[in-house]
Amino acid sequence: MDSSATDAVKGQAKMATGIGPVILFGPPGAGKGTQAKVITETYGVPQISTGDILRDNVSRGTELGLQAKAVMNRGELVPDDLVCGMVAERLAVSDCFKGFILDGFPRTLAQAKWLDKFFGNRAFETLKDCRPAVVVRIVVGYNVLLQRLTGRVSCPTCGRSYNVHTQPPRVPDTCDVDGSRLFTRKDDREEVIAERLKAYEQQTLPLAEYYRKRGRLLEIDGDQPVEKVTADVLRAIEHGNSL
Ligand code: AP5
Repeated sequence: MDSSATDAVKGQAKMATGIGPVILFGPPGAGKGTQAKVITETYGVPQISTGDILRDNVSRGTELGLQAKAVMNRGELVPDDLVCGMVAERLAVSDCFKGFILDGFPRTLAQAKWLDKFFGNRAFETLKDCRPAVVVRIVVGYNVLLQRLTGRVSCPTCGRSYNVHTQPPRVPDTCDVDGSRLFTRKDDREEVIAERLKAYEQQTLPLAEYYRKRGRLLEIDGDQPVEKVTADVLRAIEHGNSL
């Protein structure tokens, strides 16, 4: 069997087994979305990005979107009950039953406690054959985060992120994959970025201790080339290795 066929078989085996829940944890700009897309492609499990679901609701003008819009534009966190309800709805879809990637959730202690309780529900019996939840923390310093967020442009069609400083698209303003015109997120303005990073420090960072105490936290150096971070994230998921 040639190596590409072997890789394909390995990929199918991974998908059949299921990887269980993976929580990608880190500040705005750490690379959670970038890595979630690769994990999704590798294991065939869905990426559940609370930010993406909220932005979709905002653009469709749903009740949830109307409630979340101003909060997000200020760089603050959307209330826990709204976000938990939204996540519960998404996790009930059958594509999550062999595992999923949570990107941007949980973000407060209340959300983490809610998730622990939710994992105890009958809906998650299918996950018993999968691995236990792992929390992969992507660690990146403040100045690098600022540079990444001020330079980010995203594709409205496939969701891929580029960076005008470090990872520009081949043709300016155009997605390499599907040719869509790239856009800058409303909350990637400097004053909003500062608020988002403050919200992370104050409300989200304490969760690292919450998961460390439970023996579930794996830490990855996110200030490396994307492929190197990916290798470390996949190793953490497969073998439980961290920094
Ligand atoms: P959300 O959409 O989740 O945004 P975020 O957490 O601020 O994270 P980002 O998407 O900005 O960054 P990322 O870590 O995914 O990095 P990326 O891969 O894009 O949330 C937005 C808002 O929604 C929140 O502010 C809040 O209001 C609300 N919200 C969402 N979830 C919520 C919750 N659970 N509770 C309450 N409110 C919630 O990469 C960033 C850039 O860096 C890109 O340009 C990328 O190309 C580049 N890059 C990535 N990796 C590397 C690398 N290794 N080297 C160089 N460049 C890199």
